[in-house]
Amino acid sequence: MKYNFDEIIDRRHTNAMSLDGYRDYLFGGSDAFDSDYADEDLIPMWIADMEFKSPPAVIHAVSERAKHGIFGYSQIFDPAYKQAFLNWTKEHYNWKFEPDHLVTSHGVIPALFSLVKYICAPDEKVLIMTPSYAFFKLATEGSDRVLVTSDLKYSNGRYEIDFEDFRRKAEDEKVSLTIFCNPHNPTGRIWTHDELLQFGKICLENDVMIISDEIHCDLLRTGKNFTPLARLFPDSDQIITCMAPSKTFNMAGFMIANIIISNKAIRQLWQQKEIPIDNPLSIAAAQAAYTDGGDWLSELKKYVDGNFRFLKNYLSEHLPEAIFTIPDATYLAWVNVSHYLPGDENLTLFFANKAGVLLEGDTMFVSNGAGHIRLNLACPRARLQQGLNRIVKSLEHSSS
Ligand SMILES: Cc1ncc(COP(=O)(O)O)c(C=O)c1O
Repeated sequence: MKYNFDEIIDRRHTNAMSLDGYRDYLFGGSDAFDSDYADEDLIPMWIADMEFKSPPAVIHAVSERAKHGIFGYSQIFDPAYKQAFLNWTKEHYNWKFEPDHLVTSHGVIPALFSLVKYICAPDEKVLIMTPSYAFFKLATEGSDRVLVTSDLKYSNGRYEIDFEDFRRKAEDEKVSLTIFCNPHNPTGRIWTHDELLQFGKICLENDVMIISDEIHCDLLRTGKNFTPLARLFPDSDQIITCMAPSKTFNMAGFMIANIIISNKAIRQLWQQKEIPIDNPLSIAAAQAAYTDGGDWLSELKKYVDGNFRFLKNYLSEHLPEAIFTIPDATYLAWVNVSHYLPGDENLTLFFANKAGVLLEGDTMFVSNGAGHIRLNLACPRARLQQGLNRIVKSLEHSSS
């Protein structure tokens, strides 16, 4: 391997959310967090960033930009940024969009909060599929809009959209927006071509705008393909696509995301209301990632594939009743451990306290996730193994 993904890098005292910010985020400062492990021995497998360095091209570009020494107000004016991202979506997804439709945001989360307000009137509703990335709910309810959920169905090791239920809910005249996740966090499903067509048609027939959050689209298992929803509906202006270099190249802290808004009215609203400033280091980092990060990403995907195989084998051997399928995409494993913890245990707390592993349990995914934990596998394999050993040990103790 050209890149050393086995390297264990100490992120302590770098203001990393994963290690320095977990108390508030995971436990809301609650006293119930009282781990058997010392703070410095906790293993972070929760927030969706990686324990790997960003591609050398990104580090180089940021260093070069830093050497310039002036970091005044900036915005993307140089067409090279848009071109780099356009080349990326063309090369990877055979998708071309109008360059004028691309706006940047300080992350997908801020974009969600803005777009919900721009799209939905105060008495309108937002439809999401559950289990769900929690910020879909937070962006909706934080904007005082009503949340409507449609549970995914689980059968034969696979999550599926309950189209009948989804259609019924989309037909509610007050539902004016859906926030769609593809690849899906936390299940890791890439929705198939047919599923995308069926989903898109239901929304368009019912005048439901779609925010398609495709932030995980670059993190595919090797050999898998991804289709942006908007590619299948080239004549529609009802789909807003969110992509970002943040997950792909481990640069979420740069807070830069690409939002493709083909709807003219919403784009104009965006341009009037959003703060027109981008971080100069983020622009340099993102442009370099899309231009020169492809090779690193291919190697990263192989390493993460290996971690998934490792997890699958490990669970078969040590926790054979855990239910787990290697996902199509993301570096997140969604594992049903209800056989081992059948009560209504708070899983985030249980594993933090008893295993010293910081992970996200079922209640952090809105609903329809009972008995599941989400493990972040974007870490050196030795770290993964250590985390899994501790998880197994904690479950042995809980049943003895
Ligand atoms: C589906 C999804 N959307 C958005 C985000 C966060 O996006 P950003 O860091 O660009 O705000 C995440 C991070 O975990 C995510 O999983």
